[in-house]
Amino acid sequence: MTVLEVVLGDITTQDVEAVVTAANESLLGGGGVDGAIHRAAGPELAVAGAAIAPCSAGDAKATGAFGLAPVRYVIHTVGPVWEGGTEGEAQVLASCYRRCLEVADVLGVGSIAFPSIATGVYGYPVEEAARIAVAAVRTARTTVGLIRFVAFDQGGHDALVGAVGEGVSG
Ligand code: APR
Repeated sequence: MTVLEVVLGDITTQDVEAVVTAANESLLGGGGVDGAIHRAAGPELAVAGAAIAPCSAGDAKATGAFGLAPVRYVIHTVGPVWEGGTEGEAQVLASCYRRCLEVADVLGVGSIAFPSIATGVYGYPVEEAARIAVAAVRTARTTVGLIRFVAFDQGGHDALVGAVGEGVSG
C-alpha cells in the first residue's frame, strides 16, 4: 500500500530515502529545485550526474545523495518545457513520475519526495501538472511505501491537495 502526502516546504530538508530533482539533460545542476538540491548535496552531485548524463526528457537516473544524507539517493529527471500543450508535454511529464518510481523500485527505496516537476523554469501550468503527477503515481505499480509531494509555495500545495482529493470516492 503506497501512502501519498502533500507538504509545503523545502525538498532539501525532507527525511526520505530518495529525493527527485527537476534537472536538465546535463545533470550538472541549475537553478530552482535543482540548484537547491545541488547546493545541499555538494559538488560531488554534479560529478556523479555528469558521469551518467545525458538524461532525456521523461527519463530518470539515480546517483548518491552525498551531503543530503540521511537521504540515500537523488533521482534526476528532466521534465518537458511547456510549449502550449500540443507537443506531448503531458506524456513526458507523466513519464518523469513513472520512471522515477521505476528507478526507486530497482533501488529498493521505501520513501521518495517529488518537487512539482516542470512547473518553474519550464513553465508547466501548476494545476494540470499536479493532476498529471498524482494520476501517474496512482497508476504506477510501485513498491515505494511513501510518496511525498513537496510544494514550495501555497498555490502549488493547494493544486496538489486538490489533485489528491479528486477521484477519491466516498
Ligand atoms: N523545494 C521544493 N520545491 C522547490 C524548491 C525547493 N527547495 N525550489 C524550487 N522548487 C519548486 C519550484 O517552485 C517549482 O514549483 O520546484 C518546482 C520546479 O521548478 P524548477 O526548479 O524551475 O524546475 P523545472 O520547471 O522543471 O525547470 C527545470 O530549471 O533549474 C533548472 O536545471 C534545471 O534546466 C532545468 C530547469
